[in-house]
Amino acid sequence: MITESLQLEQPDGQIPGAPLQSAITYEKIPTHIYADAKAASRAVAHEIADLIRQKQAEGKPAVLGLATGSSPKTVYAELVRMHREEELSFRNVVTFNLDEYYPMEPTSRQSYWRFMREQLFDLVDIPAGNYHVPEGNMPPDQVSQHAKRYDAEIEAAGGLDFQLLGIGGNGHIGFNEPGSLINSHTRLMMLDNSTRAAASADFGGLPKTPRKAITMGVSSILNARRVVLLAWGERKASVIRGAVEGLVTELNPASYLQTHPNALFVIDEAAASELTRMKTPWLVDSVIWDNRMVKKALTYLSLALDKPILKLTDRDYNDNGMSDLLAQYGQAYDINIDIFNQLQHTITGWPGGKPNADDTNRPERAEPAHKRCLIFSPHPDDDIISMGGTFQRLVDQEHDVHIGYQTSGNIAVADDEALRFADYVVDFNDKFGIDSPEATRIFRDAAESLRTKGDTEMDSAEVRCVKGVIRMGEAKSTCRFVGIPVENAHFMNMPFYETGKVTKRPLSEEDVKILMALIEEIKPHQIYAAGDLADPHGTHKVCLDAVLEALRRLKDRDFMRDCWVWLYRGAWAEWGIHEIEMAVPMSPDQVMKKRLGIFKHQSQKDGVVYQGTDAREFWQRAEDRNRDTADLYNRLGLSEYEAMEAFVRWHF
Ligand code: F6R
Repeated sequence: MITESLQLEQPDGQIPGAPLQSAITYEKIPTHIYADAKAASRAVAHEIADLIRQKQAEGKPAVLGLATGSSPKTVYAELVRMHREEELSFRNVVTFNLDEYYPMEPTSRQSYWRFMREQLFDLVDIPAGNYHVPEGNMPPDQVSQHAKRYDAEIEAAGGLDFQLLGIGGNGHIGFNEPGSLINSHTRLMMLDNSTRAAASADFGGLPKTPRKAITMGVSSILNARRVVLLAWGERKASVIRGAVEGLVTELNPASYLQTHPNALFVIDEAAASELTRMKTPWLVDSVIWDNRMVKKALTYLSLALDKPILKLTDRDYNDNGMSDLLAQYGQAYDINIDIFNQLQHTITGWPGGKPNADDTNRPERAEPAHKRCLIFSPHPDDDIISMGGTFQRLVDQEHDVHIGYQTSGNIAVADDEALRFADYVVDFNDKFGIDSPEATRIFRDAAESLRTKGDTEMDSAEVRCVKGVIRMGEAKSTCRFVGIPVENAHFMNMPFYETGKVTKRPLSEEDVKILMALIEEIKPHQIYAAGDLADPHGTHKVCLDAVLEALRRLKDRDFMRDCWVWLYRGAWAEWGIHEIEMAVPMSPDQVMKKRLGIFKHQSQKDGVVYQGTDAREFWQRAEDRNRDTADLYNRLGLSEYEAMEAFVRWHF
């Protein structure tokens, strides 16, 4: 079960939002873990502000090395707030950015030069000549000179007082990809394929993503007097573990920071989740053995030893740092049985509750036998990808199932796909002349724009409209396939999403109100929402925030007393096995049916715009994940199923 703010599994006395201290030292770099990126960013921004003010008092410049990407945005936002509200001045600040794509015009939408101006430089009082970003529009024969000059300029400025870093999924810092040497300087780099894949969303697909970048070298970074690396989200968890706990290796360039005397990692809980102190805290310090911790430890032990839970012995506990648990509970047998039963009770083929059955040990209530279920789907295909088997069972078991499609998902449709549809409508109308003038205008304008628009240009309103309609049609098709009337498909087009860019607006009152209205209309007994915090574009996270905010506001309404909320995970990650509170098994036939339901989303098949770093198609990811969950249950000693979808209950 998770609560509204996740509880940190650490000794008493920790203030939420404050760094957690580790008793033992698997960690070779000081690492502060915060409950979320916002609290963490505030701490980092304050350190930077203190440095700026201290240098001001000394009459000296503060020389900062800056990063781009999604991680530092919250730090910049806090610095801008301090500038506006707390008179933090940047007049004595000199900055050097880590990197820039090559080739890249500074005015281009994807340039880091433009990013920095939009996020920071244009919003504070830093003098125009004080900031530096490697120039992506140098002629090829001048790049290496430019790179040398860049390092020389940093040195001439007195070296970096402070270097801010993000970390790539492959461990890169700046664009020092795996293989970069510890003594490397500013230079032109070939980008790793995974880096290009991660950036491809900004460029409208992998083929259009630059292959090179100019980056400060590892040595340039390590020369900074202070280095702070930021990482948010589960996607960074394993590379963070490697960098913090692993060996220093060129295969994970962030691990070079182990050699720096004054480096700090500032990460959120999700990015910390693979660190020993989070994953197996009983190996680091004494822990409070509450039910959640016992479940976590037992599932871990069983999987690590490759032994079903019911076969774990006292010796296994003792040999693996769990003797105090044993001392507390008596013998392994009792603990094993208890946790085994708990896991067993999470499995149900009746996600809406089993009518006329004793529900004492079932995840869902039996009554009412026919429930109103509202599935929130951040994008038009998350319902089927992430919980298609459960969706189908709810329908087959005669619940009244509604889907709230939260965003239009329009930016994920490729231009040529949209043009195919626009041409179809225009040609159809030319032939039969049965359209509305407005529809023709939209499709004509869209077709025209799609034929002429450059690869990296933003979609016009008409193009977005066409793309949104394509995705709406696909979602309706899935609903028909699963067996609900299309009136039960509610397209909410949440406004925060409609920027036409990967970067979205912040959540607004209007977004929350749209969700509240749908919940009030349906008065659901069950709500399913994507509790997926590892979505690379952050849309799932915003959609979840919106759902939780709507629920918070509605929680005192009568119908809400009878409403249970279940969280599923999107395409990117699954709940930890110890967290799962409802596991819905699928037969081979059901897996196949789900696959066909996912295929209804043709625009998201075969070379999609937002592939991310995972080369598998969405249906493959979903199947692999559902099979993995079933496999884990089986390895823990429970029945063997073909696949399973997993849910965690959210409590008000
Ligand atoms: C950006 C940079 C990169 C990013 C890294 C993480 O200037 O140098 O190393 O910090 O790719 O990017 P995000 O923060 O977008 O995950």
